[in-house]
Amino acid sequence: MCGIVGYTGGRAALDVVLDGLERLEYRGYDSAGITVQAAGGLATGKRAGKLVNLRKALADDPLPEAAVGIGHTRWATHGGPTDLNAHPHLDDDRRVAVVHNGIIENFAALRSELAARGHVLRSETDTEVVAHLLGEVFAGDLAEAMRVVCRRLEGAFTLVAVHADQPGVVVGARRNSPLVVGRGAGENFLASDVAAFIAFTREAVELGQDQVVELRADGVSVTDFQGRPAVVREYHVDWDASAAEKGGYDYFMLKEIAEQPKAVADTLLGRIGTDGQLTMGELALELGPVEKVVIVACGTAYHAGAIAKYAIEHWTRLPCEVEVASEFRYRDPILDRRTLVIAISQSGETMDTLMALRHAREQGAKVLAICNTNGSTIPRESDAVLYTHAGPEVAVASTKAFLTQLVACYLIALHLGQVRGTAPDPAGLVGQLCAAPAQVGRVLHTMEPVRALARSLADAHAVLFLGRHVGYPVALEGALKLKELAYMHAEGFAAGELKHGPIALIEDGLPVIVVVPSPRGHSVLHEKIVSNIQEIRARGARTIVIAEEGDHAVAPYADHLIRIPATHGLLQPLVATVPLQVFACELATAKGHEVDQPRNLAKSVTVE
Ligand code: G6P
Repeated sequence: MCGIVGYTGGRAALDVVLDGLERLEYRGYDSAGITVQAAGGLATGKRAGKLVNLRKALADDPLPEAAVGIGHTRWATHGGPTDLNAHPHLDDDRRVAVVHNGIIENFAALRSELAARGHVLRSETDTEVVAHLLGEVFAGDLAEAMRVVCRRLEGAFTLVAVHADQPGVVVGARRNSPLVVGRGAGENFLASDVAAFIAFTREAVELGQDQVVELRADGVSVTDFQGRPAVVREYHVDWDASAAEKGGYDYFMLKEIAEQPKAVADTLLGRIGTDGQLTMGELALELGPVEKVVIVACGTAYHAGAIAKYAIEHWTRLPCEVEVASEFRYRDPILDRRTLVIAISQSGETMDTLMALRHAREQGAKVLAICNTNGSTIPRESDAVLYTHAGPEVAVASTKAFLTQLVACYLIALHLGQVRGTAPDPAGLVGQLCAAPAQVGRVLHTMEPVRALARSLADAHAVLFLGRHVGYPVALEGALKLKELAYMHAEGFAAGELKHGPIALIEDGLPVIVVVPSPRGHSVLHEKIVSNIQEIRARGARTIVIAEEGDHAVAPYADHLIRIPATHGLLQPLVATVPLQVFACELATAKGHEVDQPRNLAKSVTVE
C-alpha cells in the first residue's frame, strides 16, 4: 500500500526513482510523484493517476538533473487521488519534501497546531504535517529532525525525506510499515520492497521497528527514534531483476499463473528428504504441547488457511480455527501458550495480519508465519517462519502465492501429524504432494476451453461458485478472483447451504461453477454435490463443473466440464483453483480491465 523509493549516488536520480516506482506500482496507483535534490534546490513533479501520467508530465516539463531523489506511488487514504494530494509533500519554504506510506493517526491535532503557528497546509493528506514539522525542527541534520518528528507521530508510517540544505542525504523512518535499504557501490537505495532496486543491487538491509536511516552515497547509518545506534540485519536477495519482469507475457498475472508448477516445486524443495521424510528444520518450535491451531490471514491467504483447516484437523486431530485477521483480535479470542497461531501472508506486511499476530504473542501463543517475502515484518515478529519461495508476485490478485501457501500449510499439517503420530500414511501423502507440480502443469496445458468459456461470459451479470469440503474455500477463492479482476458480482457458497437461501438467486442462464470433490475420497459428498448440480440445473443455471478425470457421474449434468487430475481429496485445491484463476484473468481481459492493477486495490495493505 503506497510504494516509496529513495536514491542517492552517481546515477540520474530521476531515472532510478521512476524505474523503482514502476516496480512498486502494484502497491498503489492512485497518483505518483517525485522530488529531486538539484543544485538550485528541490524540484518536484506529481500527477494523479498511474505512473504513466507522471512520466508524460515530466517529458513535457523535465526536472533538473540530480543524483538524489525520492518518489511515491499512492494508494489514497486521506484525501482523494488528486494532483494536490499526490506525494511528495513540501513545507511552506519548499526546502523539505517527504513521501509517506501508512496513516498518521494524530494528524488532525498536528494540523491544527501547525495552522495556529501560521503554516499553510495545501493538501487534504495526513502526510503534509510531517513536511511542515520537519521544516520547523530542521537545524542542519535531517536525520535528527526526523527522529524528533517521529517521536510526535502516532500510527503506522514509513517516511522518506530530502532537504535542500543537506545535499546528498536521504532520510527514512519506519514504524509498522515496510522500508528496506539497498546497498550499492557508491550509491544507496531505500524502498518499500527490494523489487524497486533489484536491478542495481541485491544486497539489502532490513530495518527494524522505530528506526531512522540516513543514506549517503558512501554510507548508511541507522538509529532508533532516540538516536541510539541500531542493529540491523543484512541479507542477499535470492532472485534477480528478471524475476520481476513480465518475461514475454502480457500481464504479470499470466506469468505468475504459468509459474505455478515451479513455485510449488520450490516450496517443496529442501523440505522432503531423499527417503521421502519431511525435513522441516525451520519449524524450530516445540510442537508437543500444542493443543489448538489458529490461522489468521486476509484475502486469498485467508482462503489458503480455510483449506488448511481441513488438512490440519484431519491429519493432526487438533482443533483448528481460521479467521480473517481483521476480526481476530477485536473479539478477545482464547489463546494461550498451548495455541499455535499460523499467520499466512504473501507480503509479510499486511497490517491486519501483523496486528493479529502481535495480539496472539501478547497472549502467550506461539506464532508460525507462512510468508513469501524475506525480511518482511510478519516473519520477523514470528517465532518461526516457513518461506514459500514463490519468487516475486507482482500482479495484485494473488495466484502462485496462494498455491505455495497451500503447500506450506500441507507441509506443516503433515509435520504436526507426524510429531503427534496421527497422520495416516504420511509417506503416501508426501508422495502425492511431490506429484503436485506436474499435475498443476497438466492443468495449465488444458486451459484453452476455459479461456474460451470466460470470453463467452464477459457480459454475464453474476457468477456463482459452489463447493463442498475443501472445494468450498476454493469456490470462495474463485469468486474473489472474479470480483477483484472482472468487477462482477461473484459469490462462493458451500453447496450444502444452497437450499438455505442462495438457491433463490438461480435464474435462467446464470453461470454457476461447481468444484466437485473426488468420488474416490469423498463418495458421500460427491453424491450430494451431484444432486446439488441437478437442483440448480433444474432451475435454469448454466453449470460449469470442475471434476477430476474419470469422474463420469457428473458429466450428464455439466453444460461445461473442466477436467483436473485425480489427487488426494485434501490436495485437490492445488489443481482445482488453477482453472478459476485462468477464468477470472481471461474474463477480465475480455472486459478490457487492467488485470495486474485492478481498480481500488493494492497488493500490500499496510493500513488497518
Ligand atoms: C490484499 C491483496 C490480496 C491478498 C491480501 C493479503 O488484499 O489484494 O491479493 O490476498 O491483501 O495479502 P498478504 O500479503 O497478507 O498475503
